[in-house]
Parts: sequence; C-alpha cells; structure tokens
Amino acid sequence: MPQPEFNRKLFGRKKGRKLSLQTQELIDTLFKQKLDIKCEDLGEPESYDPKNLFSFEPKQMIAEIGFGNGDMLAVLHKENPDDAFIGCEPFLNGLGNLLMAIEGNNTRNVRLWQDDALLLLRQFTDNSLDKIYILNPDPWPKKRHHKRRIVRPETLDLYARLLKKGGRLIMTTDVDDLAEWMVTQASNHDSFIWTANSKADWQNAPEGWVKTKYEKKGEKAGRKQSYLIFERL
Ligand SMILES: C[S@@+](CC[C@H](N)C(=O)[O-])C[C@H]1O[C@@H](n2cnc3c(N)ncnc32)[C@H](O)[C@@H]1O
Repeated sequence: MPQPEFNRKLFGRKKGRKLSLQTQELIDTLFKQKLDIKCEDLGEPESYDPKNLFSFEPKQMIAEIGFGNGDMLAVLHKENPDDAFIGCEPFLNGLGNLLMAIEGNNTRNVRLWQDDALLLLRQFTDNSLDKIYILNPDPWPKKRHHKRRIVRPETLDLYARLLKKGGRLIMTTDVDDLAEWMVTQASNHDSFIWTANSKADWQNAPEGWVKTKYEKKGEKAGRKQSYLIFERL
C-alpha cells in the first residue's frame, strides 16, 4: 500500500524545567553513547530492519509512541529481557525521567528516539514490529486540530505496514471523545480488528498493566481509562 510522507510535525514541548545535573549526565552518557538512535544510520524510508538496533535476536519487537516519563517502558523492558523496546518521546524531561528509572538495569533491549515517532517508524521495513503502544496520546480536542492526532487514517496505514500479522496496536485514553475517535478510525481501517468482545474488555486494564503518569492523573481526577487493543489482520 502506498505510504504517506511524514514531515516533521511536533506540536508539544521538547523541553521543560531545567534538568538536574544527574539527569543531564545520564543524557550525555547512557542516552547519547548507548541508547540514542542515530538518524544517519537509518537509510531510506521503509528500508531499515529495527532488529539491527540490537545486538541480540529479540523475541518480540515493541515500539512505544510518546512514552512520557517511560513508566510502561521501564517496567516492560526489565520484565521481558528477550524482547526489544523502541521508545519515542521528544520531551527531554520525560526522556530524563526514563533514564533515571532504567539506569543500572541491563539496557541492551532498549533504544530511544527523542523526536517525532513517525519520522523513525517510517524508516522501518514492513512486518517488523509485534506491538505498538500509544498511551494517552494528546487529545487535540478542537476539530481543526484532529489532523494532528497520532491515530488517524495515514498513521494507521503506517502502523498496519509495520505490524506483523497478529501484531497488536495498544492504545489508551481517558478522553471519551478521543476513545470514540480511535475506535472508529481503527475499526474503519481494513487491516485492524478490535479484540474487545465485551465492555469489560476495554474498560478493564489487561493483566500485568503498568499505569502511566497520565493514567494515574486521570484516575485521581475521576476519569475512566479505556484500553483499546486492535489486532493486525
Ligand atoms: C499526554 S502525554 C502521555 C505520556 C505517556 N504516554 C503517559 O501515558 O503518561 C503525550 C505524549 O506524547 C508525546 N508526543 C506527542 N507527539 C509525539 C510524536 N509525534 N512522537 C512521539 N511522541 C509524541 C508528547 O511529548 C507527550 O509526552
């Protein structure tokens, strides 16, 4: 299927308050020397097998778009040392928080991209990922901003190209309008089928679920999280 071009479009913040010395040091060492994915290594669009980012043969290849503070990644990479994790998050302070959380762990199964996730993912070869996580993406509530949403027809084409047959697109939100949007967009896409058979399937967290900062924040404010899991046909 023809792939859309993605130009670099970031609407959120890249940097917040000043980083602590310790965080800055982790960015200069652990991130820049080890975990950072270098743009110049990626070649032409659709040509790079993400397995090449790792020094071992991973069981599963998992990408997360907009990991925030990396709450999910920090737990999953540790619990699943044979799987490989690619985290994308432009916000430097969030990246710093993830580095603080994983420092001292075995990080051979983690690589990170501090920019627009779409610019990285478009470089990857077909059928190269087992799972894509998109947790609490920015809701862009105004109608004229809906085209900024990270789940939309063109991005679903990209996720469909990247996911293996039976692979999972795992999305969450506590914004009802966005939940409805994500379910509608993904259900209307030929390559995805919603795995939920009952309300309970999308209203309750899957087993072993890790709550992210945004999920906890929403919960505190009385909002309910939806867990929307689609399978690649
Ligand atoms: C509302 S926050 C949710 C963070 C985290 N997933 C959580 O649940 O706590 C959305 C995140 O998506 C990131 N983001 C937005 N656009 C992105 C893009 N194109 N590529 C990667 N990350 C993006 C933002 O920087 C922000 O950290």
